[in-house]
Order: sequence, then C-alpha cells, then structure tokens
Amino acid sequence: MMRLLQNFKRLVTKMTPSTGGAGGGTPEEIFNAPEIPCEDHIKHQTSNIGYLISILRFSQLKSAMLIFLPVGLFLLTGCCKCDDPEPEPFNPTPYEIDIPYGFPTQLNIPDNNPMTVEGVELGRYLFYDGRLSGRTHPDSLMSCATCHIQQNSFEIGAPRPYPFGITGISTPHAMLPMINLVWNSNGYLWNGKVNQENTGLIYGNLEDLVWMGVLARHEMNGDTNRVKEVFQDIPGYVEMFGKAFGTHIVTMDRISKAIAQFVRTLISSNSKFDKYMRGAVQLSPEELRGFVLFTTEEGADCFHCHGGYGNPLFTTNKFYNNGKDSVFTDPYDRYFITGDPMDKGAYKATTLRNIELTGPYMHDGRFETLEEVIEFYSHHLINTPYIDPLMHHIANGGIQLIPQEKSDLMAFIKTLRDDAFLSNPDFGIPGKLPSK
Ligand code: HEC
Ligand code: HEC
Repeated sequence: MMRLLQNFKRLVTKMTPSTGGAGGGTPEEIFNAPEIPCEDHIKHQTSNIGYLISILRFSQLKSAMLIFLPVGLFLLTGCCKCDDPEPEPFNPTPYEIDIPYGFPTQLNIPDNNPMTVEGVELGRYLFYDGRLSGRTHPDSLMSCATCHIQQNSFEIGAPRPYPFGITGISTPHAMLPMINLVWNSNGYLWNGKVNQENTGLIYGNLEDLVWMGVLARHEMNGDTNRVKEVFQDIPGYVEMFGKAFGTHIVTMDRISKAIAQFVRTLISSNSKFDKYMRGAVQLSPEELRGFVLFTTEEGADCFHCHGGYGNPLFTTNKFYNNGKDSVFTDPYDRYFITGDPMDKGAYKATTLRNIELTGPYMHDGRFETLEEVIEFYSHHLINTPYIDPLMHHIANGGIQLIPQEKSDLMAFIKTLRDDAFLSNPDFGIPGKLPSK
C-alpha cells in the first residue's frame, strides 16, 4: 500500500505545476497537510484527493484513476494511524495578550490553538531552530529567523529585494515583516493567499504559513516527516511538547501551532507615536506637521490605506492597486487569488510600523529608499482602470508635496519606529537550543 501511495505522490509531483506565492501549493504540502484528529482524518484526505483531481489535466486523469481507486479503498477501510495516545493530564498557563492603548480588541486566535505560555516558549525555540529544515544541526542553513530577523522588524533587512531559500531559489516577492499579526483577520502575504475565510483545507491562518515556510523550495525546502523525526529525537523538545500540548509526540500540526503562537506575541506598541498617543511624549513641530499631512485628504492622504489616528496598526490589511504600473505581469498579485480583474496589480497595504528598517519597498522591492516612495506618491502615479478609487490625487499624478512637506511626512513616518520591539528580549533567540 505504501508503495502505491508513494507512486501516486510521485505521479502528482510530476504533473502539478507549483502555484507560486510564498510556499506555493506543492504536492508535498497537500499530502502532508495538517495532521488532524482521527475523526477528521478520512474527510481531510478525501478532500485532498478531490483537490488533486481538480488540478489534474483531463489527459492525466485516466492514469491517475488507476491509482486513486485503490487509494480510495484504502481510505474507506480505515487508514487512521492514531499513534497518539490519550493526552496526558497537563496544566498549561494561559498566555494573556495585553491589548495596548487604542488597539483593536478583536484578535485572530483560532479556537483550536489557544495561546499558552508553554506553547509560546516552544514556538520561540522552534522559530530559531535550523533543524526545522529537516537537517540535524540547530545551526543548519535556515530557520524562520534566517529571513525574519528581529532587529530588522522580523524582515531580512538586505538590500536585495528577494531572499533566497535553502535551495538558492528566490522567493516570488519581497519580504514581509512580522508585526502585530495577531490583529490581522484579512489574509496574510502580499496577495492574501493565506486567509481564514478560505474554504479549502490549507492556507487558512498563521499555522499554515509555518507549513509553507518549512516546505517551500524557495524557503526551507524541508520534509515534514523528517522534521518530525528530528525533533522527536531531541529530549529537550519532547519535554517541551509535553508541557505545551500534553503529549510528547511531535507532529507538524503541533510544531506549526507552537510557532504560530509565538508569532502572535510579536506586538509593537511602543513607538514614539504610540507614546505620543498615550500622552507620554510630545512630537516635534516637524513630526506633527507630517502627522497632519499623513491623516488628511488634502494633505498626503495616506491614512485611508495605511491607518493612522484611529488605526494604530498602520495598515488596513486590505489590498489596493496604488498606481505603480500601466501593465500588470506579476502572476501572483491579488487578482491571482480573487480572479476579479479589478484586483490586477493590487497588493496588501503593509504596515508602516518600523518601515524605515524594511526597505527595499513594495512587493517587488522597486524603491530602495523611503524618499523614493514619497517621490512616487507625490509625482509619479500611473492612472489605469485598475487604480484604487482611494488614490484621490490620481488626476494630478500624485499628492504634489513641496520639499518641506516631504521632509515633514518623512519625520512623521520615522516616529513609527519601535526600538523596544526590535530589542525585546522575549522575541529573541531563547538561549541554547536543546540537543540530542
Ligand atoms: C527564505 C526566507 C524566508 C524564510 C526562511 C521564511 N520566510 Fe516567512 N516570508 C518570506 C517572504 C519573502 C515573505 C513574503 C512572501 C509573500 O507575501 O509573497 C514571508 C512572509 C511570511 C509571513 C506573512 C507576513 C504577513 O504580513 O502576511 C509570515 C507569518 C511568515 N513569513 C512566517 C514564517 C515562518 C513561521 C517561517 C519559518 C517556518 C518563515 N516565515 C520562514 C521569507 C521567508
Ligand atoms: C489606495 C491605498 C494607498 C494609499 C492612499 C497609500 N498607499 Fe502606500 N501602499 C499601498 C499598497 C497597496 C502598498 C503595497 C503595494 C505593492 O507592494 O506593490 C503600499 C506600499 C507602501 C509602502 C511600502 C511598504 C513596504 O512594506 O514595502 C510605503 C512606505 C507606503 N506605501 C507609504 C505610503 C504613504 C507615505 C502614503 C501617503 C503619501 C501612502 N502609502 C498612500 C496602498 C496605499
């Protein structure tokens, strides 16, 4: 039976084009998709196979059927390998998120992954551990933290827009930081491919981004079975899994839950601007003028898409075409996700927190400096039928700031830098990673 499954896997690997975006939709990802409780197992695998049928070309279907049939029988006769005994009694400590002043109260924490102090701690170790690529040394070539570096706002901070994966293949888009993601319920990645509204079984939430990071050829190129085995073999981790999940059995599902819990703790709420909002410091006259420009329609008009006064996340987490191009050739823009032609050239309006650290800018890293970005919004907008109606100054080709206004706006944007976040010891490498 195993051989049949492997053959099937190989066949699909040959036939399925990668769907791109971070992580892509590799066959491995689909096959190794979340390990879920036994009762859901058959349903889950059957839907995966349904999904696979839907992506095969007709000519390929015939040969695939020869293999689907026995696989189907196998599923129906009960394939569940429930090697997970009853969870041991355990008492994890709930992890409470303190909602900072003025921040939204609604958090995106899935019911099946409540945050615990022990889960966050485990996730933090895993985040910094290169063995997540399936290799056997903690300092192996790549961990999440190779690209998501705390001092750079969990971005790579390199001048080259696209980082390389462990294979040398570059990612399809520039980096995204990890800030305040626990408040995002509107899709992750530049194009929002990962969204809890998705009806499919994959690409739902931060948990799935961990799978994508581990599996993607342009990221860690890992093998989830091997990853599980490697961690199961390290006593320090086995103990931490026990504390976090009440079982010593390492699964990819638990690995991804723990890392997602850690990522949800990465909160930035201590920039100069935050302190100003709390009445703790004053902004300089220049910064204040920049703030007014940022948040007024007649000014620089940034707030509609990037938040501001009533939205301290400095992102709406929505997708817009902000007028950079006249033709749209990126196969992985928002249109790739929604199929709505009006979404051509649209991407997430990312958070402007710590933005001074995360150049080059835009999904393709086309602007090296913030000065270039302000120049673009000021004078170089391109009008097309796809431009977002919120680009109110499009008829003038931009917001037409004078030099003084440009430097005021820049001064304000720099108040969004949060040094406490960049050096928060709770977010850094937790110390020596356990070894065998
Ligand atoms: C090779 C570099 C690289 C590695 C390694 C990597 N990432 Fe990423 N990550 C990226 C890039 C590039 C993006 C943006 C991709 C896009 O949107 O197309 C991204 C996006 C993300 C986002 C989405 C942020 C948002 O605002 O939507 C999360 C969360 C994330 N990664 C988590 C992880 C985790 C967890 C790991 C480890 C399992 C990991 N990444 C490993 C490069 C990397
Ligand atoms: C209509 C919505 C909209 C408005 C208005 C808008 N932006 Fe943006 N902004 C976006 C989108 C969408 C992106 C990402 C586009 C891309 O990657 O191709 C973006 C990207 C950026 C980036 C780069 C982010 C990164 O992570 O690389 C900066 C900086 C920025 N905007 C600043 C501003 C400023 C300053 C203003 C006001 C002058 C402004 N934006 C007005 C939608 C908007």
